[in-house]
Amino acid sequence: MRAIKENSCLGASIEGIDLTKPLSDKEVSFISNSLAEYEVIFFKNQRIEPSEHREFALNFGSLQTHPAYPTVDGYPEITILENDRDNPSKIEEWHTDMTFREIPPLGSILIGRIVPPKVGATLFGSLSKAYESLPEKMKLKLGSLSAVHSFEYGFKESLAEPGGRERLKQALIDNPPVTHPVIRTHPITGRKSIFVNKLFTSHINEINEEESKEILSFLFEHIKKDEFLMKFEWEKDFIAFWDNRSILHKPDNDYWPQHRKMERITIDDTLRPS
Ligand SMILES: [Fe+2]
Repeated sequence: MRAIKENSCLGASIEGIDLTKPLSDKEVSFISNSLAEYEVIFFKNQRIEPSEHREFALNFGSLQTHPAYPTVDGYPEITILENDRDNPSKIEEWHTDMTFREIPPLGSILIGRIVPPKVGATLFGSLSKAYESLPEKMKLKLGSLSAVHSFEYGFKESLAEPGGRERLKQALIDNPPVTHPVIRTHPITGRKSIFVNKLFTSHINEINEEESKEILSFLFEHIKKDEFLMKFEWEKDFIAFWDNRSILHKPDNDYWPQHRKMERITIDDTLRPS
């Protein structure tokens, strides 16, 4: 088993492992460490069934269910992300998954099931590299701030659809707005990273509205600079496992109106961001 670093500031492909088989402790620890180190890792040509997807994910923590998406029959923890002519993707924004939760996920494991060729890449951005490049004065200021993340803010377009508020009523009740530090520290690597995203972060708490808007729009532009990014080109049976504590991502929806189907498992974290 080995990790081959991608030609960018983050990401590595893991080779020499078969995810249809149970993993040894050594393999689990190699994958956990690679995830923390490279922030997103990839496995190629892994023909795994939903049950094996589930077993693989369980090595890294307990599994979440998503309040808004459909799931694979018999596997409530496997979210289906499927788009075609009648159902275009609604996620266009850079984001970190489910930061509207008090304890946002540790990471997600996404597999390509139906993948049109040469389109529909996912872009990943390193929030730790983006943090490192900030001026010291700004790091200091951001270190004292916290921000509000909200399901309602992130799903405002779905909520505005006819019947949307009714359909998502329970999700709104279960997911009131939460506060996270603007800068968080990774529990394994100790690296600091920027922890705001355009999809779910509505405002910063400790400053006025105008300054909050100014800082957030600066950070939203900063974190998507090319130097912090990598592009992953999907094929069927490719898997991406990202560390939700230190990266953000964005789908490239250029495959639409072709049919694409992905399945995702999201793994719980045990610690609040700090
Ligand atoms: Fe996502």
